Amino acid sequence: MGYTALYRRWRPIVFSDVVGQDHITMTLKNQIKNNNIAHAYLFCGTRGTGKTSIARVFARAINCLNSKDSNPCNQCEICKGILNESIMDIIEIDAASNNGVDNIRELRENVKYPPSKAKFKVYIIDEVHMLSQGAFNALLKTLEEPPSYVIFILATTEPQKIPSTILSRCQRFDFKRVTFDKILGLLRYICTEMEVDTEDEALKLMVRNSDGAVRDALSILDQCMSFCEGKLTYERAIETLGLVTDQFLFKITDAINEENSKEAMGLIDDLVNGGKDVGQFIKDSISHFRNLMMTKMTENLQEVIDMSKENIEVLKEQGEKFELNTIIRAINILSQTEAEMKWSSQPRILLELAVVKLIQPQIDDSYEALIDRIGKLENRVYNLKLENIKVTPVLEKEKDIDNEKDIDKETTEAREYVVSQDIKEEDSPPNMVNLNFEDIKAKWGMILKEIKKKKVSIHAVLMEGNPLGVEGINLIIGFKDGFWFHKDATSKKSNSEFIEGIIFDITGEKVKLKCVMEDEIEDTFNKVKKETCDFPEKEDEIRRVKEYFSEFEDKLEIIE
Ligand SMILES: Nc1ncnc2c1ncn2[C@@H]1O[C@H](COP(=O)(O)OP(=O)(O)OP(=O)(O)O)[C@@H](O)[C@H]1O
Ligand SMILES: [Mg+2]
Ligand SMILES: [Zn+2]
Repeated sequence: MGYTALYRRWRPIVFSDVVGQDHITMTLKNQIKNNNIAHAYLFCGTRGTGKTSIARVFARAINCLNSKDSNPCNQCEICKGILNESIMDIIEIDAASNNGVDNIRELRENVKYPPSKAKFKVYIIDEVHMLSQGAFNALLKTLEEPPSYVIFILATTEPQKIPSTILSRCQRFDFKRVTFDKILGLLRYICTEMEVDTEDEALKLMVRNSDGAVRDALSILDQCMSFCEGKLTYERAIETLGLVTDQFLFKITDAINEENSKEAMGLIDDLVNGGKDVGQFIKDSISHFRNLMMTKMTENLQEVIDMSKENIEVLKEQGEKFELNTIIRAINILSQTEAEMKWSSQPRILLELAVVKLIQPQIDDSYEALIDRIGKLENRVYNLKLENIKVTPVLEKEKDIDNEKDIDKETTEAREYVVSQDIKEEDSPPNMVNLNFEDIKAKWGMILKEIKKKKVSIHAVLMEGNPLGVEGINLIIGFKDGFWFHKDATSKKSNSEFIEGIIFDITGEKVKLKCVMEDEIEDTFNKVKKETCDFPEKEDEIRRVKEYFSEFEDKLEIIE
C-alpha cells in the first residue's frame, strides 16, 4: 500500500476523536440518544475543521447495530460495510463537480429507493454552495418532503451563498477554527503514537501556521516529517516551511526603525535568495508587528504572545523604539500588501514597496503616515531648539515650551520661516470640519449593509441607532429610550472604530462616532460642541497642517 497522508490516516472515526467542536458533537450525540435526529443538516465553517469527518461519523452512528454512547462501534457489519464502501447507503457527492440540475434530478430519483442494508440513507453533499440555482431548486423539492429514511448533510465553507429557502430547512452547525492548544495536543498525540521525536517548539510553529485548520496542521506535520530525518527540530521545521526565524524579523524591523533602506533591501535579498516564501514572510511580519503592538497594550505579554521568555524581552526592547502609530501603520500596510499579493506575480516587488513605504512615510498619503510624519517632525523641531516658537500647539502632543529666552541666533532664519507659517490659535477656524451629513445619511443603508456583511454582531446593535447630525468631526448616533445596551455596545472602542472605518470606505468622510440616548440629545450637543472647541481633535489639525507640510519638511532639511 502506498503512503497515506496523515490527515487521512488520522481521520476521526468516533466523536471523541474530533477535537474542538464539542458544541456540535455533543448536540449530535444527544440527538442520537434521544432519537431526535433531523432530516437535513448544514455543516458550515472554515475548511479542514471536521465537517466531512463528523458527517461520516454521524452517518455510521445512526446506522450502527451496536452503538455505544451514541458512537459508531466501527466493528459491526454495517459500520464495517460503510467503512470499506461495500454498503452504498452513505452517499457522498461533491457539489463542486456535480453542480447541475441533472445531477440533483438523478439524486432525487435515487432518493426514492430505500436503503439497501442500513437503516438510513445519508447524503453528504460537500461544497454545497457550488450548486447552480436550478440545482438548488431541485434540491429544495427533495428537502421539502424527504422520505423518512433519508438524511441530508450539506457541508460548505460559504454558507452565505446558500439560498435562504434551503437554509431554513436545515439544522445549522457552525464549525469553529480549532484552538491552538487543542491542535497542539492532537499533534503531540500523533507524534507520540508514531514515535516521531519532535521539539515542542517545532509543533507550536506548525500550529501557528495552520491558523485553526486541523487539516492544514496535519499536512504541515506531514511535510516536516517527510523532510526531516531523525529529530524534528524547530530549525528544520522553519526550513521545511520556508519560514523566517524570529531573529530575521527582529533584524528587518530594526532596519525599518532606523530608516536604513540599504540594510532592509539587503535583508529582502537574503530572504529571496534563501528560497523563503515572500507571502509567508509578510504573514510573519504582520504577527511580529502585532506582537510589538501588544508590548504597548499589556504587561502580561506571556499570555497574549506565544514566544519564549527571552524573545519576549527582545520584543519589549524593540517595542520601545516604536510609536504606536507607526506600528499600526505598519500592520495596515503589510495587510494591504498581503491582500494584493494574492493577485500578483511579483511578490518581491510588493514586499519591497511595502518596506519603502514603512521607511519613508512621505511617499504614503494615508492618515497614519501623516501622524507618523508629525511625530518625527515634532522630534526634529524639538531637536532644533525651536521650542519657543508656537509650532507645538499645531502638533499633536504637548511639549514643554517654557524657555522662551534661549533662542539660538543661527536658527533665526528657520524661526522666521516657522513664524511666518505659524498657525496662531486665534487664527484657527472654529473646529468645524464640514462633514457632509446629508451624504452620510443618504448612504446609511449602504453602510449598514456593508457592516452586516462583515460583522453581524455590530450590525445588530447599530441597527437601533439613527444618524442625527454632525458636530465638528463627530457623527451623532441617537438611540431610542430603552436601547442602552445597543448604545454602549456601539460605543465600544473597537466597534466604533470598525464602524468609522466602513463609513470612511463608503463616504470618504473621517468621522468619530458619538453615541447618545435620544432623550439626552440637547445636553450632548452642547457638550460635544464645547469639547471640540476647547480641545481641537487631531484630525482637524492634521488637515490644516497638511498644506504646510512638505514645504516645512524641506525647509527643515536645509536648516539641519
Ligand atoms: N476537528 C477535528 N478534529 C480532528 N481532526 C480533524 C478535525 N478537523 C479536521 N481534522 C483532520 O483534517 C482532515 C480533514 O477534515 P475534514 O475533511 O473533516 O474537514 P472539512 O471541514 O470537511 O474540510 P473542507 O471544508 O475542506 O471539506 C481529517 O481527516 C482529520 O484528519
Ligand atoms: Mg469536507
Ligand atoms: Zn457499528
